[in-house]
Amino acid sequence: MQNTMTQEELFKKLVAHCKEYGFIFPSSEIYDGLGAVYDYGQNGVELKNNIKRYWWDSMVRLHENIVGLDSAIFMHPRTWEASGHVGAFNDPLIDNKDSKKRYRADVLIEEWLAKQDEKIEKEVEKARKRFGETFDEAKYRETSPRVAETAARRDEMHKRFVEAQNSGDLGELRQIIVDCEIVCPISGTRNWTEVRQFNLMFSTQMGSTAEGANTIYLRPETAQGIFVNFENVQRSTRMRVPFGIGQIGKSFRNEITPGNFTFRLREFEQMELEFFCKPGTDLEWFAYWKDFCKNWLLSLGMNEEHLHLRDHSPEELCFYSKATTDFEYDFAFGRGELWGIADRTDYDLSQHAKESGKPLDYTDPVTGERYVPYVVEPSLGADRVVLAFLTDAYDEEVVDKEKNDVRVVLRLHPALAPYKCAVLPLQKGLADKADEIYAKMRKKFSATYDLTGSIGKRYRRQDEIGTPYCVTVDFQTVEDGTVTVRDRDTMEQIRVSVDEAIAYIEGKIEL
Ligand code: GAP
Repeated sequence: MQNTMTQEELFKKLVAHCKEYGFIFPSSEIYDGLGAVYDYGQNGVELKNNIKRYWWDSMVRLHENIVGLDSAIFMHPRTWEASGHVGAFNDPLIDNKDSKKRYRADVLIEEWLAKQDEKIEKEVEKARKRFGETFDEAKYRETSPRVAETAARRDEMHKRFVEAQNSGDLGELRQIIVDCEIVCPISGTRNWTEVRQFNLMFSTQMGSTAEGANTIYLRPETAQGIFVNFENVQRSTRMRVPFGIGQIGKSFRNEITPGNFTFRLREFEQMELEFFCKPGTDLEWFAYWKDFCKNWLLSLGMNEEHLHLRDHSPEELCFYSKATTDFEYDFAFGRGELWGIADRTDYDLSQHAKESGKPLDYTDPVTGERYVPYVVEPSLGADRVVLAFLTDAYDEEVVDKEKNDVRVVLRLHPALAPYKCAVLPLQKGLADKADEIYAKMRKKFSATYDLTGSIGKRYRRQDEIGTPYCVTVDFQTVEDGTVTVRDRDTMEQIRVSVDEAIAYIEGKIEL
């Protein structure tokens, strides 16, 4: 039986669990931490590495037309002029003069729009209860003056908001905040400053003297390292289009409204693939990668009910993108973007060709056709996907209601679990035999060893960090070489030889 908890409780418990069990710690915590920066502990680093390894294996190793790259975090500053990040990688900020709190103007408006939707839904629900079985929802939405008025105001503001964003009209963004009568959640007042743009890139100086120093940026995405190496990789591999380049690495953004634990960080890791294809075939590849990425998440045990694929509407699309789909996940704090799949057309390569003066086109060796390849980009945040898998995995199972015995289990897919198995000698006298088995198992997969406490407590400790199998060494092991293998999820045990136990666990962690 599952312990019932609200999403808010789940979120709090998950954050505490991550710290208590060595998954995720606040950065430099002894100095009170650093905003939106986190460290991965002994179990978190294993989980994250497993995810990164499976991403690399399925994207790069198992696709014969995809290779990897590890480009530097620092790049020539003109990279970011060409990509548009210097000019347009901005958030519109507004301050409340009374509370001195800073907000993203677009987020304030989006929250207001969401509140209007909620208001409408509440009205409809109230009416449904009032009218009972005779309730005609469609008609009510059309005819209720209160619903119609709220919907009309919402739609008008939404239209103005989209237009203001598309034209970069900051004055209009402020006016929308004023017209919607949005108040600061802290001071409760409408005493707003002007809206101004804030660039999200971190910058630093390269060079030893102030005069000779150049401003350079910490990359806000790994993708540009791939685009500027397009020619190097294509020439040195002699790969033909379509082909892809994958990269895993750190990115940095000076987020204004960071938060929700590791969801929005200032230092984070991305796993990005840039897949180069012939113009005209891009939408087919876009569909291929959407499908592939969804299956990748499901094959690692993601709960499909928590995953939502949202196609961008035409007005939401970036001006250079032909199609974009956000994979959204129901985190415990709410729904948020996990993985973005975008058809970026030939925008990035063309921009770099223009800025650098070096052509970045491709000649088809068979037809002689020359073109700038289009790019389909699946871009996944490693930290967000770790958080999503942890959210799905966290479970509290009521073992004995009367005794108030609740078992906390991380039901991670065995392939993702930090340790695949724990070797547990029943008594100290069995330690030598257990050591021998432990050494044998560690050669095959990551394993841990625990000699302290009752066997029940030791099982629970492994459940809490998601270890899928516990191998118990007892007196019978010394006599006939068999061990018991306990399953984390069912708590059932089987008795097999050590070699059979290894083969059994290997079979379970294979994808
Ligand atoms: N190259 C395209 C690109 O960077 P994005 O939507 O800005 O697109 C891609 O980022 C993915 O990177 C997101 O879907 C998310 O998983 C992750 N990501 C972006 N900003 C992040 C942040 N501040 N903290 C953690 N992950 C982030």
